[in-house]
Amino acid sequence: MKLARLLCLLLSLALLAAPRMVVAQRAQPARNAQADIERRINALVARMTLAEKLGQLQILDGEANGNFRPEHRDMVRKGLLGSTLNVRGVARTNELQHIAMDESRLKIPVLFGFDVIHGYRTIFPVPLGETSSWDAAAVERAASIAADEARAAGVHWTFAPMLDIARDARWGRIVEGAGEDPYLGSVMARARVRGFQGTDYSAPDRVVACAKHWVAYGAVEAGRDYNTTNVSERALREIYFPPFKAATDAGVGTYMSAFNDLDGVPASANPFTLTRVLRGEWKFDGFVVSDYTSVEELIKHGLAADGADAAQAALNAGVDMEMVSRNYNQHGAQLLKEGKLSPAVIDEAVRRILRIKFRLGLFEHPYADEARERSEILSPQHRAAAREIAARSLVLLKNERGALPLSASARSIAVIGPLADSQEDVLGSWNGDGHIEDAVTLLAGIKAKVSPKTKVTYAKGCDVSGDSTAGFDEAVRAARAADFIILAVGEAAAMSGEASSRAQLDLPGRQLDLIKAIHATGKPYVVVLMNGRPLTINWVAENSPALLETWFAGTEAGNAIADVLFGDVNPGGKLPITFPRAVGQEPLYYNHKNTGRPPDPNNKYSSKYLDVPFTPLYPFGYGLSYTQFQFSNLQLSAPRIPVSGHLNVSVEVANTGRRAGDEVVQLYIHDVAASVTRPVRELKGFQRITLQPGERRRVSFTLGPAELGFYNRELRFAVEPGAFQVFVGPNSVEGLEGSFEVGAR
Ligand code: GLC
Repeated sequence: MKLARLLCLLLSLALLAAPRMVVAQRAQPARNAQADIERRINALVARMTLAEKLGQLQILDGEANGNFRPEHRDMVRKGLLGSTLNVRGVARTNELQHIAMDESRLKIPVLFGFDVIHGYRTIFPVPLGETSSWDAAAVERAASIAADEARAAGVHWTFAPMLDIARDARWGRIVEGAGEDPYLGSVMARARVRGFQGTDYSAPDRVVACAKHWVAYGAVEAGRDYNTTNVSERALREIYFPPFKAATDAGVGTYMSAFNDLDGVPASANPFTLTRVLRGEWKFDGFVVSDYTSVEELIKHGLAADGADAAQAALNAGVDMEMVSRNYNQHGAQLLKEGKLSPAVIDEAVRRILRIKFRLGLFEHPYADEARERSEILSPQHRAAAREIAARSLVLLKNERGALPLSASARSIAVIGPLADSQEDVLGSWNGDGHIEDAVTLLAGIKAKVSPKTKVTYAKGCDVSGDSTAGFDEAVRAARAADFIILAVGEAAAMSGEASSRAQLDLPGRQLDLIKAIHATGKPYVVVLMNGRPLTINWVAENSPALLETWFAGTEAGNAIADVLFGDVNPGGKLPITFPRAVGQEPLYYNHKNTGRPPDPNNKYSSKYLDVPFTPLYPFGYGLSYTQFQFSNLQLSAPRIPVSGHLNVSVEVANTGRRAGDEVVQLYIHDVAASVTRPVRELKGFQRITLQPGERRRVSFTLGPAELGFYNRELRFAVEPGAFQVFVGPNSVEGLEGSFEVGAR
């Protein structure tokens, strides 16, 4: 009997241990592979000369057309150049790679990097647009297609995703990110890293990603690009770090250090962010590349007296690779001689770069396949995905008396405005290797959508910027002759992106006057907005029947917008960024503090303006649908939970309209009283759901320490006892409200 019991015990122990053993067994090959890479790295580093080591710490720029520069051949042959940016196209990358693999002493493959921000050749909506889909799966899919095309073209490394939280619409680079919220930004960071890298970026359709710009570049004062940032450590940890932590947890292989001065220590020479946080706290083991000449710019910042100083400051702080400026190569040997740099710092930087090259599989598979370049790039499947994702990114801001959707069998439609037939602008900024001639304009999309009998006319009306109204008469005539008008206005793509901040947020040029002239005809019209940032479109919001935010929707923009305008797709996008009423309100964001005198229209002595309402024009999370949704029956699983506890929050959502549609159910919390003041609302969950007409569904969320905690007085992440409010609704200002207590234990 005893033996039987003993055998049963041993068997149950074995069964208990089995899953862990299976996991351990699965993890074993990965650990072996990593250990093998480390062995190979160390063996290689031991053989490298100082010049070859410094060569790995250098990335140089190719030519805008994708060619490498003539001098790169010899540098690669001598092992003095480890990486390039902008060099692309299999013929070119393979030519340079053969020099490295056939003619150099150590045969270390070249790493080809490129800004594949929202597509390589098939261009998807700009990141702010993609984020407006609130659909992580769609965003991941877009990144995976971008990776497939980039790797097919010989590119191994994208300088994306851009993870800068931004709250000031004046900043041009707001278009490149995921908007103002750390939680939404973190969800999109994970999605983009997974899309670019997959689970193994040595695959022929993946690239290694780059979390940029590390860190707080989006906090530039006055929204002026490259300007100073002064951000407390608490704000860094609560607002600006989270998307980067999410990217790191998702396995991002590289980081890019930012241009900005961060509380007096520029981000490209900041030991706190580059080493203490990134390496010490987060255990990141990839490499950090500087931004474009941001090492050299330490001189202009006034941190470095000269190039040698700059190299010493950046390398010792934790920037492993210098982009374009050459201070590591020019001063490394001397700094070592003077003891200002240690060989260990150089070797560690080299190891980190080699680690990523090994993980990319470049030593085994250094060359790209021309057949893939032909088959993958701009494939019909990729175009179809771009159209679908673009349609999901559109945000319906206004739709009075069902002005939209339009009828595709109308007698005549006038398409008016300077952005209605622009192939260049729909691609947005940072449009990779996108070809303008590939792009479908709004006019082309409408013509393809409507019936052959429908007459479609076009009048530009005016330019995006400039003072001329010479085209107004033609536009008004076209409007008068049509059943309804589709007006396409906004910004040129070049008015957002890098080095493109604006001090005003109005529609540029005479576009508002064009809208007013069309409005004065009394004809029905809708406004299609194409822009890279929130705009102060107060008059349009007040007076136009319908308004659709399309950002810059990419190669398939025209088809995607037509799909929504004519009702083949019911828009479900939501704003990832607050629209102000006036530029003077900036920075304006939903997760603000309450202050001791919160805005109160009935109290003069409260925090507001004399000349502009304190509320936004359109709030974070806002977006309409062609159907209607109703939220009811908010339920909390308990009135009180312990600090380590979890709370289930659920709500019923019903589609009360006559057509299927998507709603983004958003969950916000507010910690009513804490040792550090907390924002009036914080997004802690969202789900984009599709409901058929009449369908109702209960949507659930879970809140736990990860959601309820914050950085306390000691900058320790903790949940504090006390009262919490919870809000569940269609945006950051509406919805159902509940409350619960967190208990002391
Ligand atoms: C630019 C940008 C950065 C980009 C890099 C390489 O200046 O700041 O986002 O990845 O240079 O093009």
